[in-house]
Amino acid sequence: MSMISNKVADIPPYVFAKINQKKDELKRSGIDIIDLGMGDPDLPTPKPITDKLIDELNNPDNFKYSSFSGCTEFKEAVASFYKKQYNVELNSETEVLALIGSKEGIAHLPFAIIDENDYVLTPDPCYGVYRMATYIAGGKNYDMPLTKEHHYQPDLSVIPEEIKQKAKLMYLNYPGNPTAATVDLSFFNRVLDFAKDNNITIAHDSAYNMITFDESAPSILQADKAKDIAVEFGSLSKSYNMTGWRIGYVVGNPEIIRSLSVVKSNMDTSQFLPIQKAAAFALTEDQKYVHDNVEVYRKRRKVMVEGLNAIGMNVDSPKGSFYIWAPVPEGYTSEGFVEVMLENAGVVVTPGSAFGSTGEGYFRISLTVPTDRLQMAVKRIKDYLQKVTAREG
Ligand SMILES: Cc1ncc(COP(=O)(O)O)c(C=O)c1O
Repeated sequence: MSMISNKVADIPPYVFAKINQKKDELKRSGIDIIDLGMGDPDLPTPKPITDKLIDELNNPDNFKYSSFSGCTEFKEAVASFYKKQYNVELNSETEVLALIGSKEGIAHLPFAIIDENDYVLTPDPCYGVYRMATYIAGGKNYDMPLTKEHHYQPDLSVIPEEIKQKAKLMYLNYPGNPTAATVDLSFFNRVLDFAKDNNITIAHDSAYNMITFDESAPSILQADKAKDIAVEFGSLSKSYNMTGWRIGYVVGNPEIIRSLSVVKSNMDTSQFLPIQKAAAFALTEDQKYVHDNVEVYRKRRKVMVEGLNAIGMNVDSPKGSFYIWAPVPEGYTSEGFVEVMLENAGVVVTPGSAFGSTGEGYFRISLTVPTDRLQMAVKRIKDYLQKVTAREG
């Protein structure tokens, strides 16, 4: 008998692991690699936030366990952020829960909502955690394709009746990873009508909520009666360059929040208090740092989109997030293109197929490196594609 569960044994190898292995090999052989693969900001956490953390570290009261649902200061800061940013009222005791990074809550949610063999509706392509968490919790996944023709929104009218009956949860994510798409409030209202008709909980992942280039992104909780059936995940990671700190939150329907809290209280004891308190500070202070960040990504976006379009790559400018979701050149599969980019141009990008089958034919670029490196990446991609054209022509 195997030492590990069949469930875990059946999990396919993490796509990023394969790419990372190859990347490390090339690096070891002295090749300069430009890594546009990871969704991890290169800029530092703003100093006032790190200063606040240091202050809190000097208070020994903060070394104790946090309350399971997070400390009052953090939960009140999330509620105050929602009021200021979205004009949404939240009860900080019943409608806010602190998370050890939003990934943690996103991954535990199915355990709070579904039973064995219930269906979860997931966007395709999507952040892989929705699918894997569903699987580990014993649920079944139903992919909702997101295509450019449909503005990267799921077509709810094609979901079969039988699936609708068995579905208990739907994940959504705008601004989207990897599609970089944004939506307006009318989209959320439409989805909520569908969810209410079919008794399906909506979990909206708003990890990139503050990273938008034209209009600000709505919260699903701004939609009519969203709190009846929806929760929204948020993160400090991307807005404030705090990925390693592991702090996020979930807000919305109090019953769902309570059941997730039951799952979590049997598994963890929330985040370290100084981190929660510094995060509370980040959420309630002037949001200047977030706007500065967005301006950095705006410049990088311009360099990359214009650079790639100038070499004939047909790239749309993202409306939100710090990703570019681009079709691979003709004649390549997603993985094939990623492999040749790595081996021949020293540029790491992520294959669209890593996010789901509808991502095949695409690749994702992360704008988390400085402008000069992006310019160099475009040049290397251009040189490679020209070499291939010359060889074939
Ligand atoms: C769409 C999306 N949601 C959630 C997360 C998780 O963020 P964190 O756990 O750092 O809050 C990520 C991280 O890459 C993401 O891309």
